[in-house]
Amino acid sequence: MNFSLFDPSGTHDIVALFVSVFSASEGDDEGISIGDLVSNLITSTKPSDLIGCVATDSGNIVGCIFFSRFIVPSGQVAFILSPVAIDTKHQGSGIGQQLINFGLEYLRSQKVSLVFTYGDPVFYSKTGFEQISENVVKAPFPLSQPIGWLAQSLDGEHIQAMNGSSKCVEALSDPSYW
Ligand SMILES: CC(C)(COP(=O)(O)OP(=O)(O)OC[C@H]1O[C@@H](n2cnc3c(N)ncnc32)[C@H](O)[C@@H]1OP(=O)(O)O)[C@@H](O)C(=O)NCCC(=O)NCCS
Repeated sequence: MNFSLFDPSGTHDIVALFVSVFSASEGDDEGISIGDLVSNLITSTKPSDLIGCVATDSGNIVGCIFFSRFIVPSGQVAFILSPVAIDTKHQGSGIGQQLINFGLEYLRSQKVSLVFTYGDPVFYSKTGFEQISENVVKAPFPLSQPIGWLAQSLDGEHIQAMNGSSKCVEALSDPSYW
């Protein structure tokens, strides 16, 4: 398995991966919706605000994750992980966790202090994410599932409570994703 940073020349294949994975797990409508989200994320986000990581096996793409810049009131450098997809046939063999760990290591090398995500606490806790209260850091939109609001510090400092609002990139700025 090879892990590398996303290159925009692979956009078509990456969008197809997200459509196929989410169609299989949550139905065709969700597959199309996540495909549109990923396409929008790639085309509308400044390169310096988007970090994608790709897992390939013998040259075939088997997984992809995106981190995008996340503005927090403390001014610390932060990104949010979303979305994540591992090819259906390759799920459950550790690739998702390895790919996230590869991405977190890269973010550390770029002096990123905080990483957020919004998803299943059981899965994401395997790569260091912990549930975080909105009293500590507010999500950018009302959360339909507050137990899925997760974060981790990459610089060894505790996450301090912050006053004020947070902001995600435009592609994630749709209340229906939250
Ligand atoms: C969720 C997903 C990214 C996990 O990647 P993966 O490579 O299959 O997972 P790994 O093999 O690294 O980790 C497996 C562990 O995660 C857990 N896990 C896997 N898929 C899960 C899911 N959908 N929900 C909760 N936990 C899950 C398993 O219980 C397993 O735990 P165990 O090792 O203790 O048995 C992948 O299955 C996927 O793409 N699913 C469909 C799309 C999706 O749900 N994406 C995440 C939301 S953005």
